[in-house]
Amino acid sequence: MARHPDNALRWATLLLLATLGTAALVTTTNPGVVARITQKGLDYACQQGVAVLQKELEKMKIPTFSGSFKVKHLGKGRYSFYSMVIRGFQLPSSQIKLVPNKGLDLSIRNANIKISGKWKARKNFIKTRGNFDLSVESISISAGLNMSFDPTSGHPTIICSSCNNYINSVRVHISGGHLGWLIQLFHKKIESSIRKTMNNKICQVVTSSVSSRLQSYLKTLPVTYKIDRIAGISYSLVAPPTATADNLDGHLKGEFFSLAHPRSPPFTPPAMALPPDHDHMVYLGISDYFFNTAGLVYQEAGALNMTITDDMIPKKSKFRLTTDFLGTLIPQVAQMFPNMTVQFNVWASSPPHLTMRPAGLIFTPTLETQAFAVLPNSSLAPLFVLGLSTNLSMEVSARPDRLVGQLSLDKLLLELKHSDVGSFSVEVLQAIMNYVVPTAVLPKVNERLQEGFPLPMPENVQLFNLVLQTHQDFLLFGADVHYSG
Ligand SMILES: *[C@@H]1O[C@H](CO)[C@@H](O)[C@H](O)[C@H]1NC(C)=O
Ligand SMILES: *[C@@H]1O[C@H](CO)[C@@H](O)[C@H](O)[C@H]1NC(C)=O
Ligand SMILES: *[C@@H]1O[C@H](CO)[C@@H](O)[C@H](O)[C@H]1NC(C)=O
Ligand SMILES: *[C@@H]1O[C@H](CO)[C@@H](O)[C@H](O)[C@H]1NC(C)=O
Ligand SMILES: *[C@@H]1O[C@H](CO)[C@@H](O)[C@H](O)[C@H]1NC(C)=O
Repeated sequence: MARHPDNALRWATLLLLATLGTAALVTTTNPGVVARITQKGLDYACQQGVAVLQKELEKMKIPTFSGSFKVKHLGKGRYSFYSMVIRGFQLPSSQIKLVPNKGLDLSIRNANIKISGKWKARKNFIKTRGNFDLSVESISISAGLNMSFDPTSGHPTIICSSCNNYINSVRVHISGGHLGWLIQLFHKKIESSIRKTMNNKICQVVTSSVSSRLQSYLKTLPVTYKIDRIAGISYSLVAPPTATADNLDGHLKGEFFSLAHPRSPPFTPPAMALPPDHDHMVYLGISDYFFNTAGLVYQEAGALNMTITDDMIPKKSKFRLTTDFLGTLIPQVAQMFPNMTVQFNVWASSPPHLTMRPAGLIFTPTLETQAFAVLPNSSLAPLFVLGLSTNLSMEVSARPDRLVGQLSLDKLLLELKHSDVGSFSVEVLQAIMNYVVPTAVLPKVNERLQEGFPLPMPENVQLFNLVLQTHQDFLLFGADVHYSG
């Protein structure tokens, strides 16, 4: 009996551990990029989507229908309505609403259809025929859209999870024929046949337009981009899109990966608290994680290595990458290697880190540089190795389809790591390095950053009215959308 409390405690501990273990497994990682669509964006999407839906609805085929009628004293006859075509399907009022935690709701009101066709009737020897026009009025359609994602491809998916439609009235105008009274008999029949056909078909068209047209459009969202021979960007969805009262949010991986050796980075995305801005149709929250995975991939691939030679220094500069010039600062260099040029190999010794603060972006790569004298036979004689701690400000700006960047040097601290030319004080090199880094290193990096990195955009979409704000741990990029499909 005395052991029971002990056992109970052990079980409780085990249960607790198991719970914690499971909790750790189901904890979803934060997205590296959040793609947000506001109500303004949904309103625009609704316009575009409904225009497509209208065309699909206008293509509806209306089956011929026929039947028999019975007239007192005369007996039975047959009629049929055929060659019916839709002349117009107007959808004047439509809206997509957010249903928090569920998805989207498409509602269309006051839709109307104009149909024209032919009719004929026969009763023994009497045959009559003519044309008719009819309009189906005040149709309302309501469809629930359920969004999710395909975990294999990372694409968003959408289905029409429910659909209802209601037809208020059908008005028929029949012309032709001599037997007006006979034709009046058909009114009820044609009305009920049209109602039945439309009730079935409208929701079929809505459902299939969503699952074919809209779904295949969403597939045009490039979830991975190949950037260059080194890196790609993944914009795969990592969770189903979520609907709140104000926005539809897509959670994207938002990370650079190595094409040669893809692997998970040793750090995770921060939680992003996007502000409730809603002036633009779409917003992208781009976390520091996105940029830091870029730094990691390029650094590990050795792409952050650079060779600086004297011909990269402007001709009129007083700083020269020669042993004679360095000899004015470190006399041993000129004595040991007279009249030679000097080469600097610069590399990032660890993955560079970008910090995002509301006040701006600070990029702090740790660089090292090895200086060499270039011997007459072109071999390199090592001179010294410096550590360069840099503080760079990064300015990110948005182009309609990409993000571009520009680095400028705030501060450079030198440290002598190794010397092959005897001891010297590193301060003597401060002025030349303060000149070389912004003159020869940064322009090369900026050239690349100006080419930019693509944003996740589906086909035929242009962004305009771009805004960019810096927040704690992320950039907020807002834009309006123009679709030219
Ligand atoms: C949406 O679809 C998912 C998966 O099919 C389902 O689990 C979820 O309940 C659906 N949501 C709604 C609101 O229908
Ligand atoms: C980059 O430079 C470092 C240091 O010199 C070196 O270890 C690495 O191999 C270089 N990578 C490439 C691709 O040149
Ligand atoms: C320095 O080297 C260049 C060619 O490398 C040569 O033309 C020149 O004469 C040399 N000057 C001296 C002072 O040795
Ligand atoms: C280049 O010259 C240096 C010194 O003159 C010599 O030590 C080195 O072996 C030479 N290298 C080659 C590749 O000839
Ligand atoms: C760079 O900036 C950070 C934060 O502002 C600071 O802690 C660090 O000392 C700076 N480094 C240099 C080399 O100025």
